[in-house]
Amino acid sequence: MQHFISVSDTPDDDLAVIFDVSFRLREQRNAGQANEPILAGKTLAMIFEKPSLRTNVSFQQAMYELGGNSIVMVSEQVGLGKRESAGDVARVLSGMVHGIMARVFEHEKLVEMAKHASVPVINALSDFSHPCQALADAMTLMDEFGRDLKGRTLAFVGDGNNMAHSLAVMCGKLGMNFILASPPGYEIKPDIADQIMAFVPELNLEMTHDAVDAVRYADAIYADTWISMGQEQEAVIRREVFADYQLNEALVNQSPDHAIVLHCLPAYRNVEITDAVIDGPRSRVFPQAHNRLHAQKGLVAVLMGGARARGRD
Ligand code: CP
Ligand code: NVA
Repeated sequence: MQHFISVSDTPDDDLAVIFDVSFRLREQRNAGQANEPILAGKTLAMIFEKPSLRTNVSFQQAMYELGGNSIVMVSEQVGLGKRESAGDVARVLSGMVHGIMARVFEHEKLVEMAKHASVPVINALSDFSHPCQALADAMTLMDEFGRDLKGRTLAFVGDGNNMAHSLAVMCGKLGMNFILASPPGYEIKPDIADQIMAFVPELNLEMTHDAVDAVRYADAIYADTWISMGQEQEAVIRREVFADYQLNEALVNQSPDHAIVLHCLPAYRNVEITDAVIDGPRSRVFPQAHNRLHAQKGLVAVLMGGARARGRD
């Protein structure tokens, strides 16, 4: 694995190692021990074209706890694709740092950077996908149900967006079922659904417009904002269109007793998810957010630390 642009182009073996390392480093940290300095002398450069709390802090803290360094660049000054091409940014950074992480509007910029970088490029969210979040989500599911998630069902209630794409692929990789309940017109687009199925042909991917149907056999119910970054001008219409897709107690009560609730955050409380649900007994939303640190640690350790991450050095 050279880059982490999508869950789909991460070989299964590498994915398993990322989880192994993430859990191992979390265990060390939880036991009050310092992590091994796997990334001593290594620097990650970070570019954010959109706001961030979790991704920004988790990567910086991950680099710090692994003995490395991070540089958060001012996106307007970098001007990815404006001041200079994304490829040239990648070529230049490759001679100075050991990894590049970028949150971008257009997924294509990440693909271009990966093409020209000689150091790993990490997708920190694009209009198309959010694979780093999917790693933490998988860890959270494993915390609940064990490492083997085969046959489990994730019901995603909301927009067939970047988060839904990455989760669908992750479910396929883990042998899980993925059901999306969205309003008509907000499904995963047919060409993208085809791509997902080409990547993970074994995935059981369902789409429905009925949120109750989706959660009825779910092991986990997932919500994301109805208004992704960059869609703020559609906020009024989206709030109307998605009104029947709120994760509230009435909906969650239609799921099996053991089903848990996840949300990638940031949440518009009492819009896509109610206070009672996000703060309720089924919610794993904050442990899920904390798993971003551990998942991102596993990722940078494997991508930038090589054999040291695998404990072979
Ligand atoms: N979930 C997530 O990516 O959060 P941030 O946008 O705050 O990084
Ligand atoms: N779908 C959301 C995810 C935020 C982490 C967005 O793109 O804004």
